[in-house]
Amino acid sequence: MQTLTAPRTTDALAARLIITRARTLELVADLDDAALERVHSRLMSPLVWDLGHIAAFADLWLSRQPGAPPPLKPELFALYDAAETPRADRGALPMLRPPAARAYLDATLDRALDAVHDGDPFVFGLIAEHEDQHQETMLQCLQLAGLGTGPALQPAEPGPRTIALPAGRYPIGATEGFSYDNERPAHERPLDAFAIRRAPVSNREWRDFVADGGYQDPRWWTAAGWAWRAAGDVQRPRFWIDDTATAQVFSEIVALDDDAPVSHVSAHEADAFARWAGARLPTEFEWEAAAGAGVLEGTGQVWEWTSSTFTGYPGFAAHPYREYSEVFFDDGYRVLRGGSWASSAAVRRRTFRNWDHPQRRQIFAGVRLATVTEEDR
Ligand code: AVJ
Ligand code: FE
Repeated sequence: MQTLTAPRTTDALAARLIITRARTLELVADLDDAALERVHSRLMSPLVWDLGHIAAFADLWLSRQPGAPPPLKPELFALYDAAETPRADRGALPMLRPPAARAYLDATLDRALDAVHDGDPFVFGLIAEHEDQHQETMLQCLQLAGLGTGPALQPAEPGPRTIALPAGRYPIGATEGFSYDNERPAHERPLDAFAIRRAPVSNREWRDFVADGGYQDPRWWTAAGWAWRAAGDVQRPRFWIDDTATAQVFSEIVALDDDAPVSHVSAHEADAFARWAGARLPTEFEWEAAAGAGVLEGTGQVWEWTSSTFTGYPGFAAHPYREYSEVFFDDGYRVLRGGSWASSAAVRRRTFRNWDHPQRRQIFAGVRLATVTEEDR
C-alpha cells in the first residue's frame, strides 16, 4: 500500500463521513420505496442498489483494516459488486429492500466512525469519496427519471475569451491528499503551446450550432460520431426540449440560461461542436495544465470532455482498489475533467480523472474548447 501523508486530522475525516452520509440520505429523503426500487434507466442501477452498494463497499474496506472485526454482511458482497452485474441487470438482483439498506448504511457508518481514529486515512478517504461519487450517479438517475429538483447552472462571463499557454513541461498528477491510483505517479509532461477558452461552451453557442444545422452536417462529425448520431436521430443535447429554449431539469421544464454551460452532451457531440467552431477539445493534460495555471473559469459546474482516452500514467501501479481504474484502461473510455455541480468539492480537484463511453449523455457533461494551432491542421 502506498503511504499517503494525511493533511486532514481524523476528526476532519469523521466529519467528512458524517456530512457525506447526510447528503446521501437527503437525496433519497422524498422518495418512496417504489421510486427507490424501480429501474429508471438501463444506464443506471435502481437507487436502492446504490444505497446497499455504498454500505457494502464500506463494510468490505473496513473489514480489511488490521485488527478490524469481520464484515457485517459478507454474504452481500457479490450482489453489490459492480463488476459482477452490469447496471442494466441490477433490477433483478435480490438486493436489500429500502429499510434494510438504510439500516446497513447506518451500521457501516457507525463502524467507520469507531475505527477512523486508529485506521489508515487512505481507507476512510476512499469510503467517503466512493460515496460522493455514487451521489453523483444517483443524481444522474434522478435526472433521467424526471424526479426531484436540479441545479441552476451559473452563467459565465460572456465572450469567447481565449488564453494562450506557452510550450513547456507541466506538472501532472497528484502529490498530496487523497488521490486514486490513476492520478499517480505525478510527473511532468511536455506540452506544445496551446490556447484554451476561459469559459465552457454556453447554451447560446450550442443553440447556434443547432440552428446552423450542425446535427445534419457530417463534415463536423467523426465517422463513429455520425453513426451514433444517425442511429439515435440525435438533434440536440439530451434534455433539451425541441424549442431549444427550455430543458427538462429533473422534474421541471426550465428556461435555458443563454450564458450557462451546456450540459448532457456526449463526447461525439462535443467533438462535432468543436470542429464546427473551428476548434478542438483539449487533451486532459492541457486541461490540467491550464487548471494549474489558474486560467480556467466556470469549472465544477459540468464535467468537461477531453480528447484523451483513459489510460495509466507512466509507471502506473494499481493501489489496493485494483478494480477502480485499471480494468477500464485502454478500452475506448474518454476522460472528463473538472467535476460537476453534483460532484463533491474533493472530486472537483485538478488531478481527478473521470471517464465514460463517448456516446454517454447521462453525465452532467459539457465542453471547453481549445484552439486549433497550425500543428493541428
Ligand atoms: C469514476 C464515475 C467512472 O461510476 O464507474 C464508483 C466511480 N467506481 N464505484 C464509476 C466508481 C466504483 C466510477 N467513475
Ligand atoms: Fe461503487
